[in-house]
Amino acid sequence: MTMRTLDPDRPVRLGYVGCGFIAQHIHLPNFSGLRDCQLVALAELRPELGRKVAEHYSIPTLVSSHQELIDNPDIDAVAVSADYVVQGEIAADLLAAGKHVFMEKPMAVSMKQAQVILAAAERGGGRLMICYMKRYDPGNILTRDTVRKWRQSGEKGRLLYLRNHGFTGNWTAGRDTSSIISTTEPMPPKPRDHAAPDWLPAEAISSYIGYLQQYTHNINLARFVLDASADKLKVKTVDLDSDGMTGVVIFDMDGTRVVVESAQTKFHGWDEHTQIYFERGWVHAYSPVLFANPGQPKVEIYEGGDNPSYSYPIPTPIAAWHFREEAQHFLDALRSGEPFHSPGTDALTDVTLLETIYRKHLGL
Ligand SMILES: NC(=O)c1ccc[n+]([C@@H]2O[C@H](COP(=O)([O-])OP(=O)(O)OC[C@H]3O[C@@H](n4cnc5c(N)ncnc54)[C@H](O)[C@@H]3O)[C@@H](O)[C@H]2O)c1
Repeated sequence: MTMRTLDPDRPVRLGYVGCGFIAQHIHLPNFSGLRDCQLVALAELRPELGRKVAEHYSIPTLVSSHQELIDNPDIDAVAVSADYVVQGEIAADLLAAGKHVFMEKPMAVSMKQAQVILAAAERGGGRLMICYMKRYDPGNILTRDTVRKWRQSGEKGRLLYLRNHGFTGNWTAGRDTSSIISTTEPMPPKPRDHAAPDWLPAEAISSYIGYLQQYTHNINLARFVLDASADKLKVKTVDLDSDGMTGVVIFDMDGTRVVVESAQTKFHGWDEHTQIYFERGWVHAYSPVLFANPGQPKVEIYEGGDNPSYSYPIPTPIAAWHFREEAQHFLDALRSGEPFHSPGTDALTDVTLLETIYRKHLGL
């Protein structure tokens, strides 16, 4: 399929679907502040909320359905952050009509839903990027690059192990919510069952989606850091509590043992770090609290040998925020034609792994 690029001399004309929590905290402020983006239309089911948000961000057109964005030839691309089941269906319609889509994770709640979305993109020619913002965090990029370098040179010996410790806590970094616009309009329904995997018992859907919502990030990050190709991944062991959340999952990612440790805590912050061990060194990345802007990720590099050392290189660009880097990448890639760093085709792998994890967890 030929890649359609946009005119690099004019801003990307962006439509937006769903102006709830993540839209108002993250994506609308980012896109409205980026020079090469023009927010041209908003689709929102709650009319009063839509009107107020459109007015706040000076978005000239408000509609109630994404179908009206499809019919607008002046829209190049659409960002979607509705509920996680509904947004997949919206994305499929947009992609089938040839619009490029920036879509919140998870891409889908089942492989069958993911495949429908990807088939729509294939048919319509729209490009799909999934919002895995951790791939745009300068600390994670530095980590991935160091791991790549050590593997290519062999200077630190064999790659032994990757551990991702992902205990969630307060992810909003104490952000002021007083500027977030809300109304008393009821939330639209959040249907789940029809898109869930066929084999998943109804009583397990909530905990499956809870695990998927968070750990799709951590699994995606481990694959990113290791450059692990989709056909060389295996879920080896799943040991989760009956809450379906707390525990350990062990993978084989292209010959490397990867452990993802999960729990939801009431910590005041965000306890997430990823350590990659070689025989003679390690890289240890501490993820920032998600909403902390700038993120200020920390990376520790230990190098063994005759003169062992620790170093703490400062990831650049300094004062970056993974969510803003992600938005900028979307705009840049649409205009340059370069592949997305988190394309929908790759996100299918996470959906597949998550189904396997839960099948093993439930013994199905
Ligand atoms: N990357 C992250 O770390 C992160 C963090 C939080 C949420 N998210 C993702 O963002 C997505 C949205 O989450 P949220 O917390 O903003 O949800 P939300 O419920 O606060 O907002 C969703 C908005 O979409 C609107 N909406 C629903 N269906 C619609 C439709 N068919 N057409 C138009 N508008 C519609 C709703 O009225 C609501 O305003 C979820 O998929 C979630 O997984 C990602």
